[in-house]
Amino acid sequence: MQSVGVRKSHGRPNASMPLRVDILTLFPEMFGPVLGSSILKRAAEKGLVDYHLTNFRDYATDAHKSVDDKPFGGGPGMVMMAPVVCDAVADVEPKDARPATRILLTPQGRLFDQQLAQELSRHPRLLLIAGHYEGFDERIIEGLHPLELSIGDYVLTGGELPAMVVVDAVVRLLPGALGAEEGAVDETFADGLLEHPQYTRPREFRGSAVPEVLLSGNHAAIAKWRLEQRKERTRQRRPDLWKAFLDPDESGRR
Ligand code: ADE
Repeated sequence: MQSVGVRKSHGRPNASMPLRVDILTLFPEMFGPVLGSSILKRAAEKGLVDYHLTNFRDYATDAHKSVDDKPFGGGPGMVMMAPVVCDAVADVEPKDARPATRILLTPQGRLFDQQLAQELSRHPRLLLIAGHYEGFDERIIEGLHPLELSIGDYVLTGGELPAMVVVDAVVRLLPGALGAEEGAVDETFADGLLEHPQYTRPREFRGSAVPEVLLSGNHAAIAKWRLEQRKERTRQRRPDLWKAFLDPDESGRR
């Protein structure tokens, strides 16, 4: 996977083409409200991204429309069947000439983070495989070689919510997705530090006043204060990020 570059020179081969996002799932109806609201919706309306939903059920071959079955060797839960998932991918991929980056959502995967979101936002096409139930037949992984991604060390009922998380984190980074007032440059994780505290009207609320420096109009002083706040927050709340910030080579993160 290509490494992180500068945001301004967005590296998608033809950034004037919308990013194509294919989502393969048993529950396409879960995605409507999320892709059809707020910034994800606006990005599609602006022509920055195209969403395509595919139902695994359409690729079931038996009379019962099975997409999953009990695990060989016993154990709880159901396993997504290899022919169903592989046939769906084989059918969807040729619908666009651009190569798809295959992503399979699983708690066994690499932890998704902001750096990976940045990298994925430069790809021309993402194909997300969301499975419900207990897991995927291992031959799906062997056959498709997907990037296996986890959104955190907890187990959800399926890959749908993780797929939405990945799409949300990626699409907001597409140039033009956020308005100037929503900018994605100075924020948490963009440079390995948490964000500074924010304030808006009123100047005083329940006896607590907005820090004087923010009202001073002195931009250098404000920038200095914010950076100090970001460092202090990161040191206190996220020792792991603080260590990486102080010693990027040692941590291998940045
Ligand atoms: N499927 C179930 N739990 C998950 C997680 N934490 N991340 C990605 N996919 C999942």
